[in-house]
Amino acid sequence: MNKILLLLLVLVAISFGQIEYDPTQIKGADACENCHKSAVDHWKTTSHYNVFSGNEEQVAMHRRPESKEILKKMGMKSAKRGLCTNCHFTLQQQEGKKRAKAISGPSCESCHGTASNWIEFHGVFGNDANGTKATRETETAEHKLNRLKKADDAGMIRTHDIYNIVENCFECHTVPNEELVNVGGHKAGSDIDFQNWLNKEIKHNFLYSDGASNREAPRDFEIKTRNEKSKLIGLLVDLEYSLRGFATSTEEGDYSNSMKNRIESVISKLNELKTAHNDSKIISSALNSVNEVQIELTNASSLNTIADKVKSIAQNYSQN
Ligand code: HEC
Ligand code: HEC
Ligand code: HEC
Ligand code: HEC
Repeated sequence: MNKILLLLLVLVAISFGQIEYDPTQIKGADACENCHKSAVDHWKTTSHYNVFSGNEEQVAMHRRPESKEILKKMGMKSAKRGLCTNCHFTLQQQEGKKRAKAISGPSCESCHGTASNWIEFHGVFGNDANGTKATRETETAEHKLNRLKKADDAGMIRTHDIYNIVENCFECHTVPNEELVNVGGHKAGSDIDFQNWLNKEIKHNFLYSDGASNREAPRDFEIKTRNEKSKLIGLLVDLEYSLRGFATSTEEGDYSNSMKNRIESVISKLNELKTAHNDSKIISSALNSVNEVQIELTNASSLNTIADKVKSIAQNYSQN
């Protein structure tokens, strides 16, 4: 085959693959272990880990008969390359290697951002006012501010901005791929309630106690307000991603129906939450935006506009 044509085909394949991060920038969970042992140990008990490694209760994704069915219907050969790896695995491309390889299930960097540009300095406290090596307690305010700003600029997703973390969950858990669902027969999204799911399985807030216990909120956050905030942001992001997901539908089918159901279900959860919530104004403004549009296949561009509005409501609330 003509080389240029081959290159084009590869490029098309990659853009369909939609990997949203650069696999050369992935360090892998092993790189976090020295300093975050409790978080890594805990991760190894979750289905995010077992989906790749497998255990007695959970067969690794690429070994499941259901996966072989899906691959067949999609005309694909491997679950460890291409589309499936976007959500099920973490891809890393080591220096000098020609291609990226699946190294684990969704891992630290799937939620906190690829680490090679921030791993070295995000937890280093610099020198204190006397010029000696600082600890967390003696780090100067200026150093802390710079350190965190530098980490954010380098793409680290930290705990202060819930929106940025939640967004990752819904990118995978709404399964926003019509062909995969309608043709492949893949499950159409998870019934995910962010705040519950956070405390159910993936919770790993060990900094507060230096690894001694797993707290219900990260360090520096009060548990009750954190939970309230996570709950509302989770619903808003669910709404945003369901609207975007529905907007990509091209036909009536499992995919469009399930996205539509998602939208309706989030709307009713938001209505329920509104009556008792301290931030009912925020909820109302999101609900008013959705009321402006019909959830119809022909309305893609208005649906995306509404999704953008919901996004900025959620982001403002998150950063507040
Ligand atoms: C050399 C030690 C070290 C390594 C390696 C390390 N960290 Fe950290 N990390 C720290 C320290 C120390 C803190 C606490 C910083 C503070 O007190 O502000 C921290 C904080 C964090 C936080 C919380 C930040 C916030 O503001 O919410 C996250 C998330 C995090 N690290 C993720 C990771 C991930 C993911 C990896 C691996 C890719 C990693 N770290 C590797 C030392 C390290
Ligand atoms: C857009 C993200 C995404 C992509 C791409 C994706 N999956 Fe999934 N998959 C998920 C999520 C999220 C779940 C968990 C659903 C749940 O149970 O909540 C899942 C669950 C599954 C399950 C278990 C289903 C069940 O009923 O419990 C199988 C099998 C599976 N995926 C196979 C595949 C295969 C094979 C591919 C590639 C052809 C693939 N997936 C691509 C996100 C994705
Ligand atoms: C890179 C994609 C990806 C991201 C990001 C992601 N997940 Fe998942 N998650 C999956 C897949 C795939 C599975 C299914 C594992 C399996 O089939 O065994 C899963 C499984 C789970 C499960 C267990 C499912 C069950 O039925 O009990 C929970 C809980 C969960 N995820 C919560 C979250 C939360 C909360 C976030 C965000 C903070 C998140 N996930 C981010 C891909 C992802
Ligand atoms: C599925 C997404 C997801 C994965 C995977 C994940 N994290 Fe987190 N991480 C979060 C979320 C969400 C929070 C904030 C939790 C909350 O609000 O209760 C967090 C919080 C943290 C914190 C701050 C906790 C505190 O006590 O203040 C650290 C440190 C951290 N993660 C490190 C890691 C490391 C290391 C890994 C890999 C072993 C990892 N995370 C894997 C989503 C994830």
